[in-house]
Amino acid sequence: MRFDVVTLMPAMFDALTKEGVVAKAINRQIAQIGLWNPRDYTTDLHRTVDDRPYGGGPGMVMKYQPLQQAIESAQAVSPQAKVVYLSPQGRRFDQHQAKAVAAGRQSLLLIAGRYEGVDERIIQRYVDEEWSIGDYVLSGGELAAMVVLDAVIRLLPGALGDADSAQQDSFMDGLLDCPHYTRPDEIDGLSVPSVLQGGNHDAIRRWRLQQALMRTNRRRPDLLQGRHMTVEEEKFLAEIIAASGDAEQTQEQ
Ligand code: ADE
Repeated sequence: MRFDVVTLMPAMFDALTKEGVVAKAINRQIAQIGLWNPRDYTTDLHRTVDDRPYGGGPGMVMKYQPLQQAIESAQAVSPQAKVVYLSPQGRRFDQHQAKAVAAGRQSLLLIAGRYEGVDERIIQRYVDEEWSIGDYVLSGGELAAMVVLDAVIRLLPGALGDADSAQQDSFMDGLLDCPHYTRPDEIDGLSVPSVLQGGNHDAIRRWRLQQALMRTNRRRPDLLQGRHMTVEEEKFLAEIIAASGDAEQTQEQ
């Protein structure tokens, strides 16, 4: 699956492409990332990519022409890509969207802005969608683009070494994750819940689901609103709510 990013800071993407899950996906040819620097498309001596905003005010705005040429060069390689501008003004990017992109193998052309943003006419002319990764302002769209790339690429078949990890993700679909433990079974007076040390796989599955529901109910009750739940989940959640405040919940604080 192909991804392209228009960025003034291509070296930032080394953090994503040189190590970890995304690096492996690239090496296995599951994902391909192309980087396009608008500065390479400037024609003046100073390689100018920004200019003062019309109407005045602080900061600079990314100029139309170098961006246009970077975008069109990327489009020549990936003509079907959905063009996405990363900005705090965009629609919130979430796991649901990451899954839709990965499942549809929808190529993305991500535009990472710097300064006060890009000339609005770039958005008018080229951008299909505007995405935000959260209600805070980053110094540029690069980190947001990397968040999107990581969230999508790890979902591509074969990207995660352990096939169970992706399965586990869907098991907990829309819920916060359950706690995890590894050896030793006791350290600093803290022990691993006994159910996890036994071999009863269904008891372990139920415990994990209960923990995920408990955490979600306590930390992010909004995620439970309007969520389709199985009969088992409904039952566990009712028990959790009935028991809230009980010692039973000391696991999850
Ligand atoms: N660029 C700057 N801040 C951003 C955010 N929160 N999401 C996406 N792109 C951004």
